Amino acid sequence: KAEDSANGVMAANGGGVVYEDREVNENARTEDLSEMLAAGTKAVHEKAENTQFVKDFLRGRIRKELFKLGAVALYYTYTAMEEEIERNKDHPSFAPLYFPNELHRHEALAQDLEYFYGEDWQNQISCSSAAQHYVDRIHEVGQTDPVLLVAHAYTRYMGDLSGGQVLKKVAQRALRLPPTGEGVKFYEFDSIHSAKAFKQLYRSRMNELELDAQTKEKLVQEAVLAFQFNMEVFDELEEIGKTIQDDVMDAGPIHGDMQGDISK
Ligand code: HEM
Repeated sequence: KAEDSANGVMAANGGGVVYEDREVNENARTEDLSEMLAAGTKAVHEKAENTQFVKDFLRGRIRKELFKLGAVALYYTYTAMEEEIERNKDHPSFAPLYFPNELHRHEALAQDLEYFYGEDWQNQISCSSAAQHYVDRIHEVGQTDPVLLVAHAYTRYMGDLSGGQVLKKVAQRALRLPPTGEGVKFYEFDSIHSAKAFKQLYRSRMNELELDAQTKEKLVQEAVLAFQFNMEVFDELEEIGKTIQDDVMDAGPIHGDMQGDISK
C-alpha cells in the first residue's frame, strides 16, 4: 500500500521487521543532485515497491529457485556496473563516488552463487533477457556517457544500503538459510558500519560533483530508467515463478546434475 511505504515503514513477514525510515533533510536544496534524484525517482520507487515480486519477497513469499535466479540477475548487473565503474574510476564525474571496498558487490554475489549452485556455478548460470537489457545499458553508459553511471550506482547502492538488513533477514527466514550468512552475502556490507552515515557521505559526494542543471536532469532520467530495468527483472522473475511448480521447487537444480545438495 502506498501509504505504508511512503514514509518508509513496512512490517515484513508479520514479524515486525521495519524498513528504515526515510529521512528528512532540512538543509536540502532543490538543486542538490541528491534531492533531485530522490524527488525524481519517488514515483518510480513506489511503483517498484508495488511490483508483485517485491511485495511477495517482503512478505517472505519467496521460493529458493526464484531467489537464486534473482541473485543471478544481480550478479550480471553488478559485474557490468562495477566493470564500468573501474573503467571510469578516475573520471572527474565519478571519482568522488568510487568506493570499491565499501560498496562493490561482485565478489559477494559470486560467493552467494557458489553457495547456491556449487563449485561449477559459472557454468550453471546464464543472463536472462531482462538482465541483459539492463547490462547493455550499463555498458553503453560506461563507454559513451560515463557521467550517467552515477545514476546507476545511486539506484542500486543507495537502495541496497536502505533495505539490505531487512531483506537479508526475510530471505534467511523464508529460505531457511544458515545464520552465518551464506547465500545472503550480497546484503552484507562488511566495511560499512553505519548505512545511514555512509548514505549521507554518498549524497554529499554526489552534491559536490560539478554538473550543470541539464546534466543533473539527464541523471534523474537515467535513474528512472535504472528503476525501470530493475522492474523488468522483477517482472521477468514473477513470470518465471508462475512456471515453477511448488512441489519441484525445493528438489534441487532443475537442469543440474542429481548430486546437488537438496537443501540448497
Ligand atoms: C531508499 C524502502 C525497493 C531504490 C529507500 C528508503 C526506504 C525504502 C524506506 C529510504 C531510506 C533512507 O532514506 O535512509 C523501500 C521498500 C522497497 C524498496 C519498502 C520495497 C518494497 C526499492 C527498489 C529500488 C530501491 C526495488 C531500486 C532497485 C532505493 C534508492 C533509495 C531508496 C535508490 C535512496 C533514495 C534516496 O535517499 O535518494 N527505500 N525500497 N528501493 N530505495 Fe528503496
